[in-house]
Amino acid sequence: MTNTKAKKSPVTLIGLGPMGQAMAGALLEAGYELTVWNRTKAKAEALAERGAAVADSPAEALRAGGPVLLSLTEHAVMYRVLEGAESDLKGRTILNLGSDTPAASRAAAAWAEGHGARYVTGGVMSPAPGIGSSSVFSFYSGDRAAFEENKALLEVLTATDFRGEDPGLAQVYYQILLDLFWTTMTGYLHALAVARAEGVPVGTITPYLIEGNDMAMFFEGTSAAVAEGRFPGDEDRISMDAASMEHVVQTSRDAGVDTALPEAVLSLFRRGLDAGFAESSFARLVTLMDAEG
Ligand SMILES: NC(=O)c1ccc[n+]([C@@H]2O[C@H](COP(=O)([O-])OP(=O)(O)OC[C@H]3O[C@@H](n4cnc5c(N)ncnc54)[C@H](OP(=O)(O)O)[C@@H]3O)[C@@H](O)[C@H]2O)c1
Repeated sequence: MTNTKAKKSPVTLIGLGPMGQAMAGALLEAGYELTVWNRTKAKAEALAERGAAVADSPAEALRAGGPVLLSLTEHAVMYRVLEGAESDLKGRTILNLGSDTPAASRAAAAWAEGHGARYVTGGVMSPAPGIGSSSVFSFYSGDRAAFEENKALLEVLTATDFRGEDPGLAQVYYQILLDLFWTTMTGYLHALAVARAEGVPVGTITPYLIEGNDMAMFFEGTSAAVAEGRFPGDEDRISMDAASMEHVVQTSRDAGVDTALPEAVLSLFRRGLDAGFAESSFARLVTLMDAEG
């Protein structure tokens, strides 16, 4: 596709997995002067045809100028990729959109700042097809001035939500949402496995899985209970919850489906009973998980 839009400022993007590819496409579409580098160079070919410059090394990509977007699997990859190019980090702004722990993000920011760069952490709350849309967003934290200066660039990718100057904070929010995402999605897969084992077509069960439980209502009610520390057992009691969970485990077992996931949940419920919470609401189980215990 020919890009007829006016050229904007230069930007470097390192990492062309599904996310980097989508980001590169959005940046080219917006008219940025894009330089890319990827370990597997073939992934840059289609982008080169669309106008991206393809660097032969990470150091060459850094020297192209402008902010440096990183879209790598995890921060250990960043150190590996930028090893030997540290002197080219001086005076640059790194916008790291890859996933890692808050501690790893803080260490990465200190490392980058130690080489004279400004550092912003990002946590993208969208799969690749959402990149380029303002209806999805990313968490950011770290160097506030660097974020503000590059906000227009970042908004080409997704809407932005700056959480604060602690470079770990974007990953605190991101990992909390990913905690919910992966545990929920794994539960979703387990439900599909039970449906399939029982001969219920995926297409039949899916609308019930989406609409059958008002999860927003349950999330809000549970948040209110945890925030207030009130677990009166007036709507549900852990004694009932544990019995219900026994039925889920047994239904899975009877269907020949792996029970590891529901058994992990049941074991938490049983710990709740052992702790004397039988008459309390489900939300009290948080006290068995959280750091305050
Ligand atoms: N995919 C999603 O839906 C999604 C959504 C939100 C956030 N994220 C996060 O965004 C980041 C990028 O996602 P992705 O799906 O594009 O990740 P990915 O498939 O893991 O690819 C990321 C990049 O890391 C590079 N890489 C991995 N190991 C390397 C190494 N040892 N040396 C050099 N380069 C290496 C890959 O290079 P090669 O091409 O050479 O393998 C690729 O360019 C991740 O942190 C991910 O958690 C992903």
